[in-house]
Amino acid sequence: MSAWHEEYLKRYAQLKERGRSFFPYAVFKDVIVSFLLLCVLSALAYFVGAELGDLADPTDTTYNPRPEWYFMFLFQVLKLFPGRLEAVAAVVLPVLVVLFLFSLPLIDRGRERHPSRRPLLTGIALMTIIAWGFLTWKGYTSPLTNPIVEKDPLVLAGHRLYQELKCSYCHSIGGQGGLVGPELDKVVGDQTEEWLGKHFRDPQALSPGTVMPKLNLLGDEITILVAYMKSLGSGPFTEEAAKLFNENCTTCHRIGKEGGDVGPNLSAIGSVRSKSYIKSYIEDPSRANNSSSMPAYKGQLTDIQIEDVARYLASLKGNK
Ligand code: HEC
Ligand code: HEC
Repeated sequence: MSAWHEEYLKRYAQLKERGRSFFPYAVFKDVIVSFLLLCVLSALAYFVGAELGDLADPTDTTYNPRPEWYFMFLFQVLKLFPGRLEAVAAVVLPVLVVLFLFSLPLIDRGRERHPSRRPLLTGIALMTIIAWGFLTWKGYTSPLTNPIVEKDPLVLAGHRLYQELKCSYCHSIGGQGGLVGPELDKVVGDQTEEWLGKHFRDPQALSPGTVMPKLNLLGDEITILVAYMKSLGSGPFTEEAAKLFNENCTTCHRIGKEGGDVGPNLSAIGSVRSKSYIKSYIEDPSRANNSSSMPAYKGQLTDIQIEDVARYLASLKGNK
């Protein structure tokens, strides 16, 4: 037995003599700390609360997925790997790290305990912390894939009511839902708000013999359902819109056979992008794409003109 080991055993025996048993002393301390933590968590839950996002919506193409802060670094690491290698970053690397941590007591068998006397492991730990912090920061500052679209609260409420009333048993939006009634995103764009309101009040009156039930909705409920319906169809646009497009955009974009090829062909943009996305893109492409080479039109065109062009583009579903 080495002198060092002997020394260690002696010290251990000494400490043990002076020490106290795990039960109940250490357990008691654990209980106190757990209780304090519980109090802090309860207070946070009560006074701060957890943030709830919008209702989950599989048809929403403007959502910006972002993980919680503690996974932000992994989110950023994933970007360094091409699609088919993502499993390496998501599964293999974390497993290797955990295995390394497990084997640490076997690797680091030196006597020294002070960080400054263990340069290799201290170095690895410091580098890990720096890399983790850097990746977290990069994750938070990385560009969003979609512009942040402020959602109209009426539309959100309407979407909620649509779910509560199970309209999707009969109707589909974005290809999700039942087939008994028409695909709402394809047809409601053609209806006026007045028509929709009347139709919700009494479907039989406007469509005699329809199976769509009369739901005895309140006035407010009809208002928000109509707002939601109007947000699906992109809304009416003027003849001016196509002209504005020809004047400003055809140098780079093609619709049908007409136009240039610098930017993407927009003939079917309405089937892949929402009106709000298109509008935001025209206003300022750098919101969605910070390496965009397209000019921003906010200020060049009026808000009404931009809305008009966006509605026009949102109506293009590739049949022109
Ligand atoms: C039992 C099936 C059924 C349910 C449930 C139902 N609908 Fe309908 N809906 C229909 C049918 C069938 C039509 C087509 C005939 C008509 O115009 O009423 C229709 C038509 C519509 C139209 C008119 C579409 C157009 O432009 O012609 C809208 C808007 C609509 N429904 C919205 C809703 C909403 C919102 C709900 C939930 C509150 C709902 N529906 C619940 C069957 C249903
Ligand atoms: C100088 C060339 C140019 C002009 C002019 C231009 N764009 Fe673009 N646009 C682009 C390019 C290039 C892209 C592809 C991504 C990027 O660089 O922003 C693009 C992307 C877009 C997109 C996004 C497509 C998507 O799926 O994300 C929309 C919408 C769009 N343009 C609409 C317009 C409209 C409307 C106008 C006229 C008001 C216009 N553009 C004028 C070059 C142009």
